[in-house]
Amino acid sequence: MIQKFIFGNPIETDAVVQKIECIKSDIPYWHQSEKIVEGTKKLVFTYAMADEDIVYGLGESMRGINKRGYLYRSLCADDPVHTEEKTSLYGAHNALFIVGKETHGIFLDDPGEVVFDIGYTSRNVLTITCGTDLTAYFFTRGTILELIREFRTMIGRSYIPPRFGLGFGQSRWSYANEQEVEAVARGYRDNQIPIDSIYLDIDYMERYKDFTISDERFPDFPAFVQKMKKEGIHLVPIIDAGVKIEAGYPVYEEGVKKGYFCKNEDGSDFVGGVWPGRVHFPDMLDPEVRKWFGGQYQFLLEQGIDGFWNDMNEPALFYSEEHLKEVFDQIEAYKDKNLDINEFFAFTGMVSGIANNHEDYKRFYHQMNGKRVRHDAVHNLYGFNMTRAAGEAFEELEPDRRILMFSRSSYIGMHRYGGIWTGDNQSWWSHILLSMKQMVGLNMCGFLYAGSDLGGFGANATEDLVLRFTEYGLFTPLMRNHSAAGTRHQEAYSFENTENFKNIISLRYFFLPYLYSEYMRAALNGEMYFYPMAFLYPNDLHAGQVEDQLFVGQGMMIAPVYTQNATGRYVYLPECMKMYRFRSPSDFDVELFESGHHYVDCALNEVLVFVRPGYILPCSDAAMTGTVKNADSMDLSRIVLLSNAAESAHYLLYTDDGYEKDYENASHFIHIDMDEEGDIQVTRGKNAGEYAKKECGLEVTRCI
Ligand code: GLC
Repeated sequence: MIQKFIFGNPIETDAVVQKIECIKSDIPYWHQSEKIVEGTKKLVFTYAMADEDIVYGLGESMRGINKRGYLYRSLCADDPVHTEEKTSLYGAHNALFIVGKETHGIFLDDPGEVVFDIGYTSRNVLTITCGTDLTAYFFTRGTILELIREFRTMIGRSYIPPRFGLGFGQSRWSYANEQEVEAVARGYRDNQIPIDSIYLDIDYMERYKDFTISDERFPDFPAFVQKMKKEGIHLVPIIDAGVKIEAGYPVYEEGVKKGYFCKNEDGSDFVGGVWPGRVHFPDMLDPEVRKWFGGQYQFLLEQGIDGFWNDMNEPALFYSEEHLKEVFDQIEAYKDKNLDINEFFAFTGMVSGIANNHEDYKRFYHQMNGKRVRHDAVHNLYGFNMTRAAGEAFEELEPDRRILMFSRSSYIGMHRYGGIWTGDNQSWWSHILLSMKQMVGLNMCGFLYAGSDLGGFGANATEDLVLRFTEYGLFTPLMRNHSAAGTRHQEAYSFENTENFKNIISLRYFFLPYLYSEYMRAALNGEMYFYPMAFLYPNDLHAGQVEDQLFVGQGMMIAPVYTQNATGRYVYLPECMKMYRFRSPSDFDVELFESGHHYVDCALNEVLVFVRPGYILPCSDAAMTGTVKNADSMDLSRIVLLSNAAESAHYLLYTDDGYEKDYENASHFIHIDMDEEGDIQVTRGKNAGEYAKKECGLEVTRCI
């Protein structure tokens, strides 16, 4: 059951797709009050948590899967240092799922700042402080899995990438010209490491101008895109939110002429600073501007591009022109002064506070359905609508083909148009674990296509870290190695032991039939791709505490190693399981484990995969025999089953050409049935009765 409550005069965010009647009463279980914060009236919703309550949700945020004990702020931020004390990251995903005394969910559809104090001030008190104009949704329904499905149905189907988006991608800020991109492709090819995409960061553009290509560095871009495609590699360029102010640049000139940029209070175009220097921000919240901005992607689609990543769309703001001027004036005043402690810190704080200053978000305005809205009231919608602009354009420009798209900033609703990456993480061991925790919250909020920069974006990586990160990342739908300018190179062939990287990345392609099917199941049914153990073993108290093991689908459990120098790790098994210790798709050993706590060896070049009793998981025979180059061309007709089935078992495999959009077409579903004797039947079709005897084109070559 979902209930909808309206407070004040909310802005339509389009986060929710279901039509729900609004109720005039209090939100069940929640107490409502008001308070004044820095002179502004806020609504406060309070919930009394029981000791045993677990609070899930909040999408991309810091800390644990269980969000209790800290404070989180939905205020999309360009913050590249994801340390424990941080309260905001790039996304704003205002949904909480409370499991315990009164299992229920709440979604605060307020695109301004929202603060979640989940036992931070007082251990058992949960307060949400938000604006006075918002829509709230309250939902209850049986188990946590049913609750999630209810919520996900309400917010609409998650984005589905082309299959190559589930292949491995290599990125770096930046591969700046054809030669550098070719060198990366060569690095992978010469070492026989499968790869699907190479990412182009900001230096492919001409002076950081969106929808331009540097002629000097990519003299014949369409030909180069085709050449890479022939090698099986998709080039995926970045698009930034700010449009460079430069006479003669058509996107800028047209935007100014048509009044498409965000405005100052006096109606002039707001000026901010990002990579290209001074920029204007397209008013993504205005449908007409969205259509215009989305149409710009055609420039790259026409040149053979079929994937993009949208960046700096919180929007990141190095400075606003006005504030920068204020700071320079102030610095002048400090110039010949004897700076004491207070003045010195005021001075340094003033300079370090220039970037992404929230006061700047009060300086500009959007046009929404004929109404002028100050940016800070809708801040969290900007990245969502930039990606929506692209997604809506792709529907028109490429109606029959899926386009790869993911964004840095997001809001619930954006999950229908693209995925996300978790932004500028670091080459830190703790960020492997953080990513695992983030995936759960993200999946609950509809973001299935997600992943973190493998190896870490900032700071210098070491070989062991990149390998362990990759061993985890081989299960995230977005599997991309990305690093910052100036850091040590971390491509799979950059270290002493390339063979290890080759084997681990090959495992991605080995698991791909399963991972792809699980992705489609989760997307088509509003379910989780990654499950925390607590969701599958709700009555097992230990399982509820485990945050460093995840289920991928309901049949496979992973337990990545995320500690340096560790040669194994503790694993908790709620039931007996079959474990595969993979060194490569063809090199593995198998062990059976009883339920309980175990210390399991896992050398640096090994990956642990646990299969639940009664499950069969389809993997790629081609990857096992070492013949896979990429996801596009891989032979998916021959399947190897990981099996932990003593009795009969069934798996519903999803296959398609990786681009088509008729997801529900019965021919995309293949039933794999195994009987008590181990005999296998493979039949095509969606529902049981429908599939009998159809030619299937799939062969199970062996069971391991
Ligand atoms: C931002 C992005 C990062 C990118 C860089 C340069 O920091 O988060 O991924 O490499 O900008 O474009």
